[in-house]
Amino acid sequence: MTNDQDASLTPPVALVTGAARGIGRAVTRRLLGDGYHVGALDHDASALADLQTGLAAGLRAHCQTLVADVADESAVQSAIEQLVSTHGQLDVLVNNAGIADPFNGPIESLSLADWNRVIGTNLTGYFLCTKHAAPLLRRRRGCIVNMASSRAYQSEAETEAYAASKGGIVALTHALSISLGPDVRVNAVAPGWIDVRDQQPGDDTPAPLRAVDHAQHPGGRVGGGDDISGLVAFLCSPDAGFITGQTLVADGGMTRKMIYQH
Ligand code: NAI
Repeated sequence: MTNDQDASLTPPVALVTGAARGIGRAVTRRLLGDGYHVGALDHDASALADLQTGLAAGLRAHCQTLVADVADESAVQSAIEQLVSTHGQLDVLVNNAGIADPFNGPIESLSLADWNRVIGTNLTGYFLCTKHAAPLLRRRRGCIVNMASSRAYQSEAETEAYAASKGGIVALTHALSISLGPDVRVNAVAPGWIDVRDQQPGDDTPAPLRAVDHAQHPGGRVGGGDDISGLVAFLCSPDAGFITGQTLVADGGMTRKMIYQH
């Protein structure tokens, strides 16, 4: 629920990008469970159909699937128009769609096309969705949550395009919080390792992770989709009404851990 919402009057409306799989799927399910109408946007039509089919009948009616590429401005614009023509309002934007594989190979052989593909989806896609959602969000005193990454702050080798896109999202988040305030709060979540293999189309049960995968985290485990969807729900709630321009890291403590070898 956003700041000024009276749930008894009109259920809030959220747009979640990259909703068909992974974190976006978990966020979509959480917001639907919290009583939102959700526009579930993704460029993968069949994974969106799978998301819709897997919802409980009571929730399915509140989930509108929108097939669009976030890097395509006219597609973004018409998806938002479609959602608003159904509900007449927009309260929450969750910018999440992204190329989630961070590895780009050696910088010396990274093509401009591959660089632009990552920046175009992960960063420009957030700009385009925000640009077209902003007037609607202002009207509802709504909020935006951007999915960044702990890779905005620390790196493995050969991840330049992804890291730059996520660092850009942290900066975009604080810039927007100034431009859109006080009408719209804008925050970001920076997840660490989030195991989303259970948030994919199909019924395959993922193989368990290794003990070392969990144990290396100060928090004792790898994250799951619900760790992030809960944080997104909090940032959209009145309990977060005094938080804007921030990026909250949810990584089981990995960015606080020194890793010198002794
Ligand atoms: P995922 O690959 O499971 O899901 C990404 C979704 O975005 C897919 O449904 C895909 O079809 C959609 N998508 C990709 N490009 C798109 C485009 N151009 N237009 C519309 N939809 C598009 O990835 P995951 O892991 O759920 O990641 C979601 C977000 O969280 C990404 O922004 C990623 O960078 C971020 N993240 C994920 C972490 C993780 O460990 N899973 C860690 C840190 C950040």
